[in-house]
Amino acid sequence: MSDQMSRITLARRPEGAPVPDDFKFETCDIPSPGDGEVLIEVTHLSLDPYMRGRMDDSESYAASVELGETMTGQGVGRVLESKADGFSKGDTVTGMTGWASHAILSGGEARKLDDRLPPSTALGVLGMPGLTGWAGLKLYGKPKKGETLVVGAATGPVGSMVGQLAKAEGLRTVAIAGGEEKCRIATEKFGFDAAIDHHAHDSAESLRDAVSEAAPDGVDIYWENVAGPLLEAVLPLMNQHGRIPLCGMVAWYDGKNIKDTNQLPSVWRAILVNRLQVTGFISFDHFDRMDEFHEEVGPKVANGEIAYLEDVAEGLKNAPEAFIAMLKGGNTGKQIVKL
Ligand SMILES: NC(=O)c1ccc[n+]([C@@H]2O[C@H](COP(=O)([O-])OP(=O)(O)OC[C@H]3O[C@@H](n4cnc5c(N)ncnc54)[C@H](OP(=O)(O)O)[C@@H]3O)[C@@H](O)[C@H]2O)c1
Repeated sequence: MSDQMSRITLARRPEGAPVPDDFKFETCDIPSPGDGEVLIEVTHLSLDPYMRGRMDDSESYAASVELGETMTGQGVGRVLESKADGFSKGDTVTGMTGWASHAILSGGEARKLDDRLPPSTALGVLGMPGLTGWAGLKLYGKPKKGETLVVGAATGPVGSMVGQLAKAEGLRTVAIAGGEEKCRIATEKFGFDAAIDHHAHDSAESLRDAVSEAAPDGVDIYWENVAGPLLEAVLPLMNQHGRIPLCGMVAWYDGKNIKDTNQLPSVWRAILVNRLQVTGFISFDHFDRMDEFHEEVGPKVANGEIAYLEDVAEGLKNAPEAFIAMLKGGNTGKQIVKL
């Protein structure tokens, strides 16, 4: 076995949308695990929109990646060497490996995976994004039979989980997705009642007309993944006492296209007039419910009741390109990198 590993570091902070030169591919020595640690060979890496925020040097709910540091991220891999109780060579585990071929994790950070499902599911449908959709919908969406839910980025791991769970609860589900193919996937694979291609609308007003047609009884839950023109389109369609689980705002992560922020008074007014509940939340606040999530949703994934879709890029070197594309909607399903 080579004693060298590869990793991708943050070379510089992006200005607007990230570009390949913001990342650096490097090789270095494989570290050795200390007491209580395991050495992992990473097989799959998760690419998630939140990583864009970690590339900035601004205050957030988690620390920024420092320049020269390995990009943060969750991976799945095999244990090559264990000095931690409960882990043996060959175990499949997941943890925050970073964008790297190998990683050291403490026994407390690593989680052993059930071998009955593909390991990549621990990064998407049964990982952080799936948990986010499941917990957020229960706690903040509070779905009720007969209501209508609208979600953007609907074919991604969060949106597709939210849509399927809401549909199973008897809601009308409306997907907003980028492109005809994603709309087809939203209805055929994920069971949405209607799907709207946001690329086909060049204004929030036009998108609003389409959402209004797809949601004739108004919107009770707007699951916020995107913000930007989607928020502007959907907010006026909210029913009284509607809920907005504020999960993400990927359209604004690059700090561009935020001209709509001068609409704050109208947003605030809509929340007041319609007595909306808007709840921001972060997945890791709910990590203590991971076992409950797996117990409830794991069997449904195994028997196909909950569908999932993965978009797999090959090779660590291609992670930056896949990440850059994902932030512009280039992914179809949960973005994974197979190492
Ligand atoms: N709060 C939390 O703890 C938490 C946890 C996980 C994820 N999230 C958030 O949840 C959202 C979805 O995450 P995910 O992992 O499921 O991502 P994802 O859907 O796999 O990927 C992001 C998607 O966002 C859409 N998008 C990007 N820019 C857009 C724009 N300008 N306008 C409209 N759509 C755009 C694209 O889908 P289309 O091509 O279909 O538009 C793209 O495929 C993100 O905002 C993410 O940050 C939050």
